[in-house]
Amino acid sequence: MTDELQDFIDDLEQAVKIGRETILEIVGAEDEHFGPFSDRTIKRRFTRKDAAELVGVTADAIIKAEKAGKLPEPDKDEKKKMLGYTIYQIDHMRSYFKTYPWKAENEEARVLCVTNLKGGCYKTTLSTYISQFAALNGRRVLFIDTDPQGSGSVLMNKMPDEPLTEPVNEFTKQIFRDAELGDDRAIEIKESLQSDHYHLTIGPLAESLENHEFEDLSYAIQSTHWPNLDIIQSSIALSLSNLVIQKLLSDDSVQPEMIYTYLRAGIEKHKKDYDLIVFDSSPDVAFNNVNLVAAADMVLMPAPLDFIDYHASVRYLEVFKEAFVYLQSNLSKADFGSKKVFRVLPTKFDKTNEISTRMLSIVNDSFERFLLKGQPVISFTQQVPVGNFTLRSIYETEPHNRSSREAHSRAIKIFANAFEPIMNELESAWPSKQDYL
Ligand SMILES: Nc1ncnc2c1ncn2[C@@H]1O[C@H](COP(=O)(O)OP(=O)(O)OP(=O)(O)O)[C@@H](O)[C@H]1O
Ligand SMILES: [Mg+2]
Repeated sequence: MTDELQDFIDDLEQAVKIGRETILEIVGAEDEHFGPFSDRTIKRRFTRKDAAELVGVTADAIIKAEKAGKLPEPDKDEKKKMLGYTIYQIDHMRSYFKTYPWKAENEEARVLCVTNLKGGCYKTTLSTYISQFAALNGRRVLFIDTDPQGSGSVLMNKMPDEPLTEPVNEFTKQIFRDAELGDDRAIEIKESLQSDHYHLTIGPLAESLENHEFEDLSYAIQSTHWPNLDIIQSSIALSLSNLVIQKLLSDDSVQPEMIYTYLRAGIEKHKKDYDLIVFDSSPDVAFNNVNLVAAADMVLMPAPLDFIDYHASVRYLEVFKEAFVYLQSNLSKADFGSKKVFRVLPTKFDKTNEISTRMLSIVNDSFERFLLKGQPVISFTQQVPVGNFTLRSIYETEPHNRSSREAHSRAIKIFANAFEPIMNELESAWPSKQDYL
């Protein structure tokens, strides 16, 4: 190796060290309002009117239950002013009133995949926000981060690849226990969890095509600080998983169709436990992304309003079309599920920018039959980057962390205009929701 290259590597190492320390400093800082990142809970409060709407009962019904001692008295400040309800209290009300808006027991979770080859088109924001939106509205949600960047994980309070000192689910509990008893494989996994979180990602499921270690994703599911919202997180080591899958292509013991559908098969068992499963994807066209599309009931493509980005989105669709033509003719045994819908959602709209407005008409006209109901568009809003700074979505920010009251309400509206038709379209496939819709 040349000295020059070694210098470059040393520089990279320094940059990584500085970057990681800075992140930990910011997210670990004791904030007067939020406390440290590790103790994160959702502190946002909801009015009784909002709570009634979210629970699906009248405000009077809540008051009556509180007076009868069936629900706890609402929290008050020192001046006896009502503080409003937390999302945890709202969840408790749903269990008391039995108003969880869940699928029927014999129905299956609907699967949404947010994808585009174009980087920065709002995939992660849309996939994390819709997961929280659905959970806020009482759905049981599993969010799966398949991007080694890990932005979705960190937004859900899982800092990828920080050494794991405590077990985070039943699987890691078992690993820590077995490692203690001297089990070789458990020791190996426990040690690897000290350097990265690969064993909490979809990666080991892909490898299971060869070593048969796991049949589903139970080992990777963790709960989050949101009620009814679980996560399968990312790890930097996930960047290797597409290579692992590629290697399996030449392994005779692996059924070739499973290489493109291992995620579809892996989530099958979990579809009875959730109402919605959401995949965030990395901006590439590798095996994992074919798997996500194969697993999805709805494929949502955010389309940024710029001509080069429009071009990139069309190229992405071409690659997928070719991939599925190939799969259809060569792997006819592969299970791609029942009908899939493809939807386009224009993003990065700026109404003060003439090009943005022109591009919106171009996207809306050209992709008309693939748009969501009401033709929503995701506008740029300062509330998203403001929330990012304390790793809080628009659904978590409290009044003192909003760019302004109006900006926050506007942001809530922008995303709801897209999420309501997505949820309605997905859930309309359930016979139990036919009347309700
Ligand atoms: N409506 C919005 N208004 C303003 N900024 C936004 C909005 N939505 C997302 N952003 C910001 O734009 C940037 C890119 O968004 P995001 O990370 O969701 O894109 P992505 O498609 O997941 O990117 P990648 O391809 O790198 O995974 C982020 O900083 C995000 O916080
Ligand atoms: Mg992303």
